[in-house]
Amino acid sequence: MLGIPSEEVQRFIKWSDDIALFMQNFVVSHTPDKEISEQTKGSMKEMYEYLSQAIADRRKEKKNDLLSRIIAETPGENGELRDDQVIAQTIHLIFGGHKIPQFMLSNTLHLLFKHPHIFHQLKEDMSLLPKVLEECMRLEGPIQYITRNAAQDIEIRGAKIKKGDSVYFFLGSAGRDGDVFEEPDEFRIIRNGNRHIGFGGGFHACIAAVFARAEILEILREVFKSFPNLKPVYNLDNPQWTKNPTFHGITTMPVVY
Ligand code: HEM
Repeated sequence: MLGIPSEEVQRFIKWSDDIALFMQNFVVSHTPDKEISEQTKGSMKEMYEYLSQAIADRRKEKKNDLLSRIIAETPGENGELRDDQVIAQTIHLIFGGHKIPQFMLSNTLHLLFKHPHIFHQLKEDMSLLPKVLEECMRLEGPIQYITRNAAQDIEIRGAKIKKGDSVYFFLGSAGRDGDVFEEPDEFRIIRNGNRHIGFGGGFHACIAAVFARAEILEILREVFKSFPNLKPVYNLDNPQWTKNPTFHGITTMPVVY
């Protein structure tokens, strides 16, 4: 979609993996790990150089791709965005588009392995898949929390938040709110009414929520069709989760097919 040639995709995956590594590290350490920081800095530099050139090419000659449209159709100060703005937006799209759906796929498969009766029911009737995906997103969403800085002093249920404070919104916890979801820890295909907030909310809600759902559903359909006997060969009670909940997903999940 961005117009990156397919032979470059592996480089983009490496850059995106490095960003994930850094983000995973810096939320838990007061001092970011030097080696990880250096590695990510190197990747960001390469990404910046690559995208600067790709943007320059498209400023000269528009192509039929998303990058050209971000440049030409997004109003900036003088009618177009500056290079650094386009690059920031593009990096966000690449990272969001690669790492987060990857975790959503692993988490969905894991929940299905853990609930074989639901997995069986799904294989019998694939039209249940969108509901299964929403339930998996509620139970094990790949983004467990988002952060904001308070624009003004506020008080919520007795908790005082001062202007400028960092506020953490635990989307994953909201998905298991017993006041909102009946038997919140249960995996149920059919749930009435209430929806999870795994894609965030408000102005910065996921720009790609519709696309992400369609993409993940398509991949899962293809996986189940191609590998009807997919089985886990890892410890279902102790999978290898990412180290902290910034991005919540299973990093390695050996299977047989
Ligand atoms: C299951 C998959 C996904 C989930 C659960 C997810 C979740 C989220 C969440 C919770 C936010 C809000 C962040 C915040 O408010 O701080 C967000 C924002 C965003 N997501 Fe996604 N996302 C997914 C897939 C994608 C994909 C596939 C892309 C790109 C192709 C993408 C691009 C973005 C971008 C650019 C934003 C920032 C929007 C803004 O700041 O206005 N996401 N996403």
